[in-house]
Amino acid sequence: MARQRTYRLIYLEHANWKSLPASDRDLLLAAQAAARKAYAKYSKFKVGAALRTTDGRMTIGSNQENASYPAGTCAERTALHACMALSPGAYVDVIAVVVPKAKGKDPIPPCGICRQALVEQERRQGGPLRILLGAPEGEVLEIGSAEGLMPLSFDASFLK
Ligand code: THU
Repeated sequence: MARQRTYRLIYLEHANWKSLPASDRDLLLAAQAAARKAYAKYSKFKVGAALRTTDGRMTIGSNQENASYPAGTCAERTALHACMALSPGAYVDVIAVVVPKAKGKDPIPPCGICRQALVEQERRQGGPLRILLGAPEGEVLEIGSAEGLMPLSFDASFLK
């Protein structure tokens, strides 16, 4: 007999950014601006990310593509790894992700590899990081932790 297990994700859907604090709105604006620096020669899909660490510092990133497609990196990992390369002990409080010219559905959720990278960061810092997906002035999804987006995730505990 198999036992049925349930996984629930609770997140906030902000119809627009008015219900967000000014610091989150600033981060969304920074992510939107960061998308202008994307190198999206192949997909034409420009993504911007901006994160804030608990010391108040902000780091931006954008997707950087490559003629060898898998060599490219997403905006989220560009920002995360740039931040951690400079400040290995930093605690990421929140990351915002914006696709200013999304033509299909938006907000755009992070890909699986970025979710994996964000979960690793949560393990590393020993606590959750918030994720904001959307657009300044548009609809914004707020997720309380990366782990919420990655149930049954693989982490260092399996390597022991
Ligand atoms: N991309 C991101 O930068 N972040 C996401 O969350 C989804 C996808 C990038 C990767 C690639 O450069 C382009 O968007 C199309 O997949």
